[in-house]
Amino acid sequence: MLETLTTACRPAATPAELAAHHAVRHRVFVEEQHVFDGSDRDARDDDPLTIHVVAYAGTTIGGAVRLYPLDPAGERWQGDRLAVLPEYRVHGLGTPLVRYAVRTAAERGGLVMVAHIQLRNVGYFQRLGWHCDGEVETYVNLPHQPMAIDLRPRAEGS
Ligand SMILES: CC(C)(COP(=O)(O)OP(=O)(O)OC[C@H]1O[C@@H](n2cnc3c(N)ncnc32)[C@H](O)[C@@H]1OP(=O)(O)O)[C@@H](O)C(=O)NCCC(=O)NCCS
Repeated sequence: MLETLTTACRPAATPAELAAHHAVRHRVFVEEQHVFDGSDRDARDDDPLTIHVVAYAGTTIGGAVRLYPLDPAGERWQGDRLAVLPEYRVHGLGTPLVRYAVRTAAERGGLVMVAHIQLRNVGYFQRLGWHCDGEVETYVNLPHQPMAIDLRPRAEGS
């Protein structure tokens, strides 16, 4: 009964949580979607500034996302590798993961967050406040829509 489970997102804090983060990504992007051949890890995963997030459904990690600053000032952030295991989908893990990534980048001084979004997920991100930010482009060998969200707090009445 997934609907009754408590969900929570946080940065991977132990080797086991980091392994679970990578296991979710591997299952989704390597085994399910075949976006990557063998491994989806890249140099960003070795960068100490990269934040590897896990999403718990009850006591089990069912989702992951990572985020990192794109510039030395930490004003522009990227989120990627958003993945929820198939058995946990459409039960509200993806949305907290996206919101957690956005909130975390904002708390760290980010002004804007960008992402390359698979075309089937553009509507999903629009519902979460993101907007299209340029033409469709090839990213990891697949068409992706560049999208962005403003991280600055809105002034009252604006
Ligand atoms: C995209 C993904 C992360 C969404 O995670 P999820 O846990 O299923 O999403 P949620 O349960 O938080 O969904 C919230 C709402 O969005 C809807 N939704 C989910 N995926 C959607 C999609 N691709 N397009 C439009 N709506 C979608 C759900 O139906 C739900 O609607 P509701 O609130 O009316 O019930 C998940 O489907 C996934 O991991 N897919 C494979 C990997 C992937 O595509 N990653 C993103 C790469 S850009």
